[in-house]
Amino acid sequence: VIDRTIRPKTLEDYIGQPQVRMQMDIFIQASKMRGNALDHLLISGPPGLGKTTLANIVANEMGVNLRITSGPVLEKAGDLVAMLTNLEPHDILFIDEIHRLSPVVEEVLYPAMEDYQLDIIIGEGASARTIKIELPPFTLVGATTRAGLLTPPLRDRFGIVQRLDFYATRDLQHIVSRSATCLALNITESGASEIARRARGTPRIANRLLRRVRDFADVRASGHITDEVAVNALNMLNVDTEGCDFMDRKLLLAIIDQFVGGPVGLDSLAVAIGEERNTIEDVLEPFLIQQGFIQRTPRGRIATVRAYRHFGLEVRSGKD
Ligand code: ADE
Repeated sequence: VIDRTIRPKTLEDYIGQPQVRMQMDIFIQASKMRGNALDHLLISGPPGLGKTTLANIVANEMGVNLRITSGPVLEKAGDLVAMLTNLEPHDILFIDEIHRLSPVVEEVLYPAMEDYQLDIIIGEGASARTIKIELPPFTLVGATTRAGLLTPPLRDRFGIVQRLDFYATRDLQHIVSRSATCLALNITESGASEIARRARGTPRIANRLLRRVRDFADVRASGHITDEVAVNALNMLNVDTEGCDFMDRKLLLAIIDQFVGGPVGLDSLAVAIGEERNTIEDVLEPFLIQQGFIQRTPRGRIATVRAYRHFGLEVRSGKD
């Protein structure tokens, strides 16, 4: 419920990602001028950076419906056919986790994206025939945490590809302040900045921390969020000064302590910290790599000097 009130609904209210915003503004205006459906759009990036938010904004700016589904939910070709045949002209079909589509469902998507057409096969063997069904012009918006996992034929059918990057602290501070206004919270600029600094470059985390800091402020500080209140609340939440949470630190310390700084392979690391391989790759690693805490090498992950320093440790080499 809260999410709905603080999610931006227009490109104008969308903070950060300046290139994405500028490009999407042009593409949306151009397709509206021509009276076309917007070209198919692929949005990639780590979780929580606003892929769904962006899809909502595009639908709102285009003045069309947004139909939402996801790769794992579309089990059979018929599931996708049902969604496609219920679209109105220029509607957006949003497929989250599009890298997890099954091959048979993906096959349905190719002619739909390319020619707004479905090739339905009926019957089997010698009597099999295809019938073509015309679809209304529509826009497919695909979201994925890893664009690299898309098959090339699918990736090639997106006319627009946008990569979302981690947000700068300044942009996150704007987002926190904006959310605080939406929620009628009492927060200082430095309070918002403290939350922003520790939010892993991620709006979803910034907004979540804001709500937890607000709880702390309501109980301990008459609802007033200053930087001091924010620092105390965030320390209580085990979010450190670089924004690393418990799992981030567990991962870094496993590389440093158990694997003598690495290199260590993903599977060994997954076992060591009791986490899924995919979660490490999609959720934990991107931020730690971007921050320069770990490096990916052909032989595995290694902890950087910055990671050792973060924990106040001496850098050891594996040989001594
Ligand atoms: N909430 C989540 N992402 C946002 C963004 N990019 N701008 C404004 N509010 C947001």
